[in-house]
Parts: sequence; structure tokens; C-alpha cells
Amino acid sequence: MNGMMKRLIVGMVFCGVLAGSAALAQDDQAVLQDRRAPVVLRPFEKTRILNDMREYLKGLQDILSALTREDMVAVEVRARALGTINIYETSLMFPTVSGVKFRELSALVHEEFDAIADDARKGKGSKVILAQLALTMKRCTSCHESFRLTEMAHSR
Ligand code: HEC
Repeated sequence: MNGMMKRLIVGMVFCGVLAGSAALAQDDQAVLQDRRAPVVLRPFEKTRILNDMREYLKGLQDILSALTREDMVAVEVRARALGTINIYETSLMFPTVSGVKFRELSALVHEEFDAIADDARKGKGSKVILAQLALTMKRCTSCHESFRLTEMAHSR
């Protein structure tokens, strides 16, 4: 390989590294920049909602393990309990478009857990219930992608 060729190859590798790190920097920015819309709440409501969220996760875990045992009574009981979580009753500091959308999504989750409880009672199989859970979990993930909670301090 002649000197010219070597320099060309070294140059190309260097450019590749530069381009790679530029792409990485862009990815980092996407992660660091929170583009989720804020839902502004009173501090106690934020605490309550996060508490409800942990209940959702816990409830889902219970439902999944009940399904593995085909214990439809336990599925119904847990889904019914999750159906009583009323995040949509949160009173918004500002009824912004995102706040209203947030409430609509919460109402959907609420209805869907109730429907899952009804279907478990009616003896629908675990496959049907799993499909419903997959759909409801899409609400969880799409809401998480779109919104974040912020609290308005010094408000009642
Ligand atoms: C209507 C919107 C919405 C829905 C639906 C929703 N979440 Fe959330 N969830 C949020 C927001 C907003 C946060 C807080 C994120 C933030 O502020 O960074 C959150 C936080 C959480 C947390 C963290 C709790 C903590 O203590 O910090 C868990 C766990 C969670 N959600 C689980 C779930 C599960 C499971 C479901 C579905 C059954 C669900 N969520 C449905 C909006 C939602």
C-alpha cells in the first residue's frame, strides 16, 4: 500500500468516527430533551396519581400471574380493583388540550379494566384476556410517551 492510500484510509476511518460521534450526540439530545407535554397538577394530586400508577403496575403483575394459573376469579377481582382507579377525576390546574387528552386516556383505561373484569366473570379464556391486556397496556405506554406530570407549587 502506498503512502497516499494509507493516508486516505486513515482519513476515511477518522471521518467515520466523527460521523458516529455526531450521531451519538444527537441521540443523547433526544433523550435529554423531554418533549412530553406537561400536565400541571397540585402537589398532592401528583402524589396520588403516581401512587395509582404503581397500583396499576402491581395489579397487572397480579393479573398476569393469576392468568398463568387460569385463576379467573383472581383476574376478575384484580381487574375490578384497577377499574376503580379514577385518574380522570383529577382536577386540572389548567384544562389545556394535553390535560384533557390525559383525562380521556385515563377514562379509557378505567373502562377497559372494568371490561376485563366482566369478561373474566363471563368465563372468557386467558387468551382473550391477554389480548385485552395488551391493548390496555398500549394506553399506558402511549400516555407515558406523551405526558409528564409537573406540580404547581404554592397552590391549593
Ligand atoms: C393518562 C396517562 C397515563 C396512563 C393511561 C398511564 N400512565 Fe403511568 N404515568 C403517567 C405519567 C404522566 C407518569 C409520570 C411520568 C413523569 O412525570 O415523568 C406515570 C408514571 C408511572 C409510573 C411510575 C410511578 C412512580 O412512582 O414514579 C408507573 C409504574 C406507571 N406510570 C405505570 C402505569 C401502568 C402500568 C399503566 C397502565 C395500566 C399506566 N401507568 C397508565 C401517565 C399515565
